[in-house]
Parts: sequence; structure tokens; C-alpha cells
Amino acid sequence: MKLEYVSYMSNQANVLNEKDVEDLLYQVREKNRKLAITGLLLLIQGKFIQYIEGPPEEIDKVYIKIKKDPRHSDLLLLDKGVLEDRLFSDWSMAYRKIKDSEIENIIGFKDLELDKLFFQDEETRSKHPVLKVLYNFIRNLT
Ligand SMILES: Cc1cc2nc3c(=O)[nH]c(=O)nc-3n(C[C@H](O)[C@H](O)[C@H](O)COP(=O)(O)O)c2cc1C
Repeated sequence: MKLEYVSYMSNQANVLNEKDVEDLLYQVREKNRKLAITGLLLLIQGKFIQYIEGPPEEIDKVYIKIKKDPRHSDLLLLDKGVLEDRLFSDWSMAYRKIKDSEIENIIGFKDLELDKLFFQDEETRSKHPVLKVLYNFIRNLT
């Protein structure tokens, strides 16, 4: 079966406490189970970074909804494409809050300069260390 994946970054509208995160994950996981969507949500330096995968028509629809969600803003597409097999078959939405020290372990420095990403073209974004961080967690969690 052909699957589609999308990853994006966004600014959190408010600083989320643990309860807010739990509520969000509860809603997202329930919906994703129904739509056969799986993926990973990272919270990193005040931003969300999310990777979702699933049937192309569902991914397109959900991504449109996610873009309009007032819980975040300034969505920026990082990567998208097609894949044959899921990376997250066991996770309707895995979640990790990432510490600066973890970022440093992965890319060798702490400051991802995520704000600068908003001014870069797609080609530059596709090589940004943030994707290295994302794919590192994808590798470790799958
Ligand atoms: C950071 C973030 C990630 C989200 N991820 C998903 C997701 O993976 N799947 C999903 O269905 N909704 C996700 N949502 C929620 C959607 O934006 C939206 O609230 C939900 O799909 C509404 O569905 P409904 O209109 O069918 O009730 C996310 C929201 C935020 C803020």
C-alpha cells in the first residue's frame, strides 16, 4: 500500500503544561487510530515538530486541519514524500519532549536556530539539523 508522510514545524501558541500535552495526545491518538495515521510529535525549544504517515488522502485532510489549529502557528513544511512501509506501525502518535542536551548529543551543538528556518527556502530546510534530530528520534523509537 502506498503511504504518504509529512513533517512540519510550528510555534506553540502557549506554553503547554503536562495536562495540555496529555489532552492533545489523547485527542490526536484517538483520531489517528480511526484514520490509520501513525507518527511522532516532538516538543523542542518551544516548537512542535511532527511527523505523520498514513493513507495519502487522510494525511492531506489531516494536515489541512492541523494547519488551522489555534494551538500553534507559523507552520513550516520540513519534509514530505511517499513510503512503502510505515516507520511507526505501533504508535498512533509517539511523543517526546527534547532537552537541549539531547540535541547537542545528536548534532554537536545546542542551538538549532529554529527561528531562522522560517526564512529559508525548502531546499535549505531539507538539509537543516532539525531534520537530523527528527530522524534520529524516528530511528530510535521505531
Ligand atoms: C501539534 C498538533 C498536532 C496534531 N496532530 C494531529 C494528528 O496527528 N492527527 C489528527 O487527527 N489531529 C491532529 N491535531 C489536531 C488537529 O489540528 C484537529 O484539532 C483535529 O484533527 C480536529 O479534528 P475534527 O475537526 O475532525 O474534530 C494536532 C494538533 C496540534 C496542535
